[in-house]
Amino acid sequence: MEKVKKVTKIGVLTSGGDAPGMNAAIRAVVRTGLYHGLEVYGIMRGYAGTIDDDIHKMDSRSVANIIQRGGTILKTARCKEFYEPEGRKKAYDNLRKKGINGLVVIGGDGSFRGAQIFSNEFDIPCIGIPGTIDKDIAGTDFTIGFDTAANTAVNAIDKIRDTADAHDRLFIIEVMGRDAGFIALHSGIATGAENILIPERKTDMEELVHGLEEKEKRKKLVNLVVVAEGDDFGGADEVAKLMRSRLPTADIRVAILGHIQRGGAPSCLDRLIASRMGYSSVECLIEGRHNVMVGIMNNRMHFTPLDKAVKAKQKISDEWMKIVKILAS
Ligand code: F6P
Repeated sequence: MEKVKKVTKIGVLTSGGDAPGMNAAIRAVVRTGLYHGLEVYGIMRGYAGTIDDDIHKMDSRSVANIIQRGGTILKTARCKEFYEPEGRKKAYDNLRKKGINGLVVIGGDGSFRGAQIFSNEFDIPCIGIPGTIDKDIAGTDFTIGFDTAANTAVNAIDKIRDTADAHDRLFIIEVMGRDAGFIALHSGIATGAENILIPERKTDMEELVHGLEEKEKRKKLVNLVVVAEGDDFGGADEVAKLMRSRLPTADIRVAILGHIQRGGAPSCLDRLIASRMGYSSVECLIEGRHNVMVGIMNNRMHFTPLDKAVKAKQKISDEWMKIVKILAS
């Protein structure tokens, strides 16, 4: 059996879009690492920091007073250079110079793709922690930031409902999710939306318009349609254009929630899962469980090989879509 090299110095970085709870995960990685006698290094701006040698030793105080903060103290970036072999070689040389022999990557599937390629090329084991508001990663029931983002969307949509009700308006509300409809699905169901448009499903515009006309006849006047930014019509503005042409008497407004969904204090759930995943990522490195994503399924830690984690997407079940239809009637 191949002897697993002992991990003594680890690096942690955040990559891709920031997500509330990333700081709680960084804190957990740093403090669990220190507990086990490891040296822990924070890498700035994701993979870019590995290439630019923006790598700093952390202690317990470096992560004080951050569990409640959104964003990421390590900053984040989407780094194109890391996708080139020369970039990854620079990154490896910089990590080796510091003696770093284990890496924790907090991010989404794009970040894991980078980690997977890197760990195949070089002898630095990587552990992925799913941190994305999109929740589109298979092998885990939770991704850090999703719960906070969905709750932010729910709070905003509840407020919009007041105006929709006061003016008898139809609101088309756009939430984040270029390729994933989870924020739209969860926030739409939780706010009683009439329709939810997501990238994972084709929307039948005829059926949608017909349904709204029929509700208007029944004097069901508060209408909220929640649209993921990546739906097949191209977002809320496009959906509104189509609807205005089909429903000339409807008073239609668009609200785009945008980046407010990425910021703010993480929810209790996001702080908890981030702490648990951060702790578990270090335990993985110590135990020699390498190149996996740590997830939580059915309240247990679940480890998915990085190569599988980058291929599989979390799916939206048809049952959820049926529930949306039935409950909005
Ligand atoms: O992946 C997270 C996410 O917020 C998506 O929902 C959204 O489409 C994208 O990032 C926006 O990215 P940016 O902030 O780089 O425009």
